Amino acid sequence: MIQRIDKIISSQMNVSRNDARSMIKSGSVAVDGKSVTDSSAKVDAENSEITVNGKPLFFKEHIYIMMNKPQGVVSATTDNKIKTVIDIVPEALKRKNLFPAGRLDRDTVGFMLITDDGDFAHRILSPLKHVPKTYIANLRDRLSEEARQTLENGAVLSDGTQCMDALVRVIDEEGKVAEITIREGKYHQIKRMFASVGNEVTFLKRISIGNLHLDESLEEGECREITENELSLIEKR
Ligand code: URA
Repeated sequence: MIQRIDKIISSQMNVSRNDARSMIKSGSVAVDGKSVTDSSAKVDAENSEITVNGKPLFFKEHIYIMMNKPQGVVSATTDNKIKTVIDIVPEALKRKNLFPAGRLDRDTVGFMLITDDGDFAHRILSPLKHVPKTYIANLRDRLSEEARQTLENGAVLSDGTQCMDALVRVIDEEGKVAEITIREGKYHQIKRMFASVGNEVTFLKRISIGNLHLDESLEEGECREITENELSLIEKR
């Protein structure tokens, strides 16, 4: 991808275009071993060795972040009152144009994917792609086998909405914790599915998107970059 050097420095280092220009002017930036002081110089970012103060810049067109979303933050880019998932991305991973790819309720925790790649987000969120998402739901009441099967066969929500079939597994002895995989993303879907069988979700955590699991070493509120291999697991069938 051929771009102006000031644009590359600004996007990759999350600095303003003006700051990028100052860095370039001061002689901090080199391309393939030669100092570049003209901010408008065009550079093949993927195939050149760019350094800033002698340190290599590893160009990535897009960034993909796995966050273990904590309770109390909203899945939005900006909000006047409440902290958003973008607000809590650490500086080292911040880029312009980051947004959450999908939504989790304010009180839901777990795997939130944050990126600046609109095409990728569009693909994984498309209702036609049916990318599976798995959640752990703590329930108020024991889940009966009959209710489990109803959910597996496609719940009908209180407003008459028909859900697709799902996978539902009870994972504790008491029968009050379920692992559920759905292939669509209706508003408050998991909570409404369990409500449709007379139960209530008291705690909800998303543990995977596609075949990519939440890294359990991430504490709530922590983030890390998703590797290329991991990224391919999201869309893999
Ligand atoms: N379903 C819900 O009800 N809430 C979420 O946050 C995600 C799925």
